[in-house]
Amino acid sequence: MAAGTNASALCFVLLVVMAAGGASAQLSTGFYSSSCPGALGAVASVVQSAVAKEPRMGASILRLFFHDCFVQGCDGSLLLDDTPSFQGEKTAMPNNGSVRGFEVIDAIKVAVENICPGVVSCADVLAIAARDSVVALGGPNWAVKVGRRDSTTASFSGANNNIPPPTSGLANLTSLFAAQGLSQKDMVALSGSHTIGQARCTNFRAHIYNETDIDSGFAGTRQSGCPPNSGSGDNNLAPLDLQTPIAFENNYYKNLVAKKGLLHSDQELFNGGATDPLVQYYASSQSAFFADFVAGMIKMGDISPLIGNNGEIRKNCRKSN
Ligand code: HEM
Ligand SMILES: *[C@@H]1O[C@H](CO)[C@@H](O)[C@H](O)[C@H]1NC(C)=O
Ligand SMILES: *[C@@H]1O[C@H](CO)[C@@H](O)[C@H](O)[C@H]1NC(C)=O
Ligand SMILES: *[C@@H]1O[C@H](CO)[C@@H](O)[C@H](O)[C@H]1NC(C)=O
Repeated sequence: MAAGTNASALCFVLLVVMAAGGASAQLSTGFYSSSCPGALGAVASVVQSAVAKEPRMGASILRLFFHDCFVQGCDGSLLLDDTPSFQGEKTAMPNNGSVRGFEVIDAIKVAVENICPGVVSCADVLAIAARDSVVALGGPNWAVKVGRRDSTTASFSGANNNIPPPTSGLANLTSLFAAQGLSQKDMVALSGSHTIGQARCTNFRAHIYNETDIDSGFAGTRQSGCPPNSGSGDNNLAPLDLQTPIAFENNYYKNLVAKKGLLHSDQELFNGGATDPLVQYYASSQSAFFADFVAGMIKMGDISPLIGNNGEIRKNCRKSN
């Protein structure tokens, strides 16, 4: 009888633990409220001045968070420089010559270390800074879940394999997001990030010269800044949203409906496939886009966090302690 009761009690405890879910259940919006009450304000203030100085920086920081979360989870791995024992993520194909904003992340980390040494992880700094970047450019606000710890290693191959290239079709985009536990709807809503920021000619050349799912006037405009032969003008920039690349709104979807997506992968979201209705919906309702974007950002921020005694709180985001 007593043994049976103990067994039931054990089962009950196990059920409660399982119901609490995976590691992500232990992230919370109030994680630093007593250990570092000034953390959120410190991050916001550095982001605001960086974005005031150069609005594109908001886009660059948002992208860093995406590229961090898709490789080993949101663990700050992207921020690590190469070491003799591993090649980091910064020079992997999707990142090399493209990711930017590490100095701003460093400046935030210094500000946060000054008020609470050894408390706030680089992974959380990035998550908070991504939210503050969206807000600084006029996008939605939300409470960021924190409590992530930092990895001690990075994955060059993970960055190459997990982050979708701009040549991807809808099926591949969908499956690369599904591999991270994100739905096709999350994928379409998070892609609205391309309502801000810039892309390099090498990433949209084939789309503007060789594809038919593009407005011809728009293709011509973009061709004038992006020479046809690879190797020439590869790094020339064009805005991902032709209308307002420093304002976070739903113009990205309006562009897609007008066949004015800059990347092949962008236009794939509105090219006669299953996601056309959602693109039309977000083009017509900014509030629906904002709500689903926020839900997607929170879900993306929940990807495989290091918690408890896993990982560390890096002192310097570029290297393990
Ligand atoms: C759906 C699959 C995606 C693909 C294929 C993709 C691809 C790209 C590419 C090729 C660029 C231009 C890089 C360059 O030329 O240097 C870019 C820029 C950007 N991406 Fe994505 N992306 C995707 C999803 C996302 C997501 C989910 C986010 C954020 C949540 C995001 C945020 C950004 C931002 C903000 C920029 C501009 C960065 C800057 O101006 O520095 N992207 N993306
Ligand atoms: C990264 O880009 C630089 C400059 O274009 C190039 O020299 C280097 O080989 C690239 N690294 C990798 C790992 O592809
Ligand atoms: C898409 O996925 C297929 C099957 O996994 C693969 O063969 C193909 O190279 C991928 N294409 C792109 C552009 O990623
Ligand atoms: C366009 O396609 C042709 C034929 O496949 C190829 O030779 C050319 O390099 C492509 N041009 C661009 C800009 O992608």
